[in-house]
Amino acid sequence: MLDHGQALPHLLPPSAYASEEHHQLELAQVLRPSWHCIASLADFANPGDYRTVDLLGRSLILHRTSRGIRAFVNACAHRHTQVSSLPCGNERRLRCQYHGWEYDAEGVACVIPDAGCFMPLDYQALRLEPVRLEQLGQLLFVCLEPASPPLRESLGARATAALEAWFGPGLRQAAAIGLDHDCNWKIPIENSLEDYHVKMLHDNFIARHPKLFRLFQGRPPEGKPRYEIDDNFSSVHDEFGASSAGYRFALEALRKQSSVAFEHLHVFPSMLLGKTGLVTFFQSVLPTSVNRSRSLVRIFLDLGQAGTPLHERGLAPLADRLVAAMFRALMREDERVFPAAQSGMRDSTRNGLLGGREQRVYAFHRYLTSALTSA
Ligand code: FES
Ligand SMILES: [Fe+2]
Repeated sequence: MLDHGQALPHLLPPSAYASEEHHQLELAQVLRPSWHCIASLADFANPGDYRTVDLLGRSLILHRTSRGIRAFVNACAHRHTQVSSLPCGNERRLRCQYHGWEYDAEGVACVIPDAGCFMPLDYQALRLEPVRLEQLGQLLFVCLEPASPPLRESLGARATAALEAWFGPGLRQAAAIGLDHDCNWKIPIENSLEDYHVKMLHDNFIARHPKLFRLFQGRPPEGKPRYEIDDNFSSVHDEFGASSAGYRFALEALRKQSSVAFEHLHVFPSMLLGKTGLVTFFQSVLPTSVNRSRSLVRIFLDLGQAGTPLHERGLAPLADRLVAAMFRALMREDERVFPAAQSGMRDSTRNGLLGGREQRVYAFHRYLTSALTSA
């Protein structure tokens, strides 16, 4: 771990955020071999639900049947057309939008209109290309690279344990948010790795919600956030509400034995997980081009099991809306600076500098630098 007061080099040059050549290297050596969360179980509430997802330049289609959820490349075995171009839908069998070929749960063609004109016909050979898919907690992950290790091995023990514990079956998904950013994918990630920007960017939110922020005023005597930095993750553990009787009371009333701690984990390269006593959230930020990116956010609320007074009074949906609104407001405030950060990356020729409060940004740079040189 690094000293909180120590200056650190900004290891990535500005061109790492703006050059097409660097972007292609990152895609090939860091992002395509990694596992990415692209959906959650709540996105597939009913049998037959399907979703199309763009992941690193490839369109995928995920489908839930009685055999579970499967992922395929969204390209028909007949003449390569996207099976569906809708964001989501419900079909007992996936059916191509062009000539109507139908595919079973494992992606094998099972209905071919006027099949006689394709003789000799080997149905088994006519299938959608499968994509590796694994589930951890309520989250669904895919990997485009067949040679990469399985999900749990890729993530490592710490991240696997956090994902399992923080997104387990008892939670209710409160909100699903998709957001496009006008900047390189690393900028929103780095923004969430430091609280140094809070005074400048979130002054509005803090001013509009003074009561909420009074809850978090004052640190417990032991003080500073605890950072943990490793080869494939960085984390921070803070107790920002611990000195507030109000916050403790609210937690105790809603969730017995809930912790006042806030924990945030960055699983390299692109997953961010957060946990407080009541809320857990997941964010994945991935590029759609060198200077555009997209976040997938899933927020879960832990208000105790159904049947508690909060649920009986129908307050859970209200709590969902409040939490989602708060997240959106905070993310919008962060977003205002992203295009300017991107423009600066394009124009700057200097090296930049990081402070001790940005040591998780440094850890991210160190990971990327070594992943790109060792590949
Ligand atoms: S391209 Fe899909 S059925 Fe023809
Ligand atoms: Fe922020």
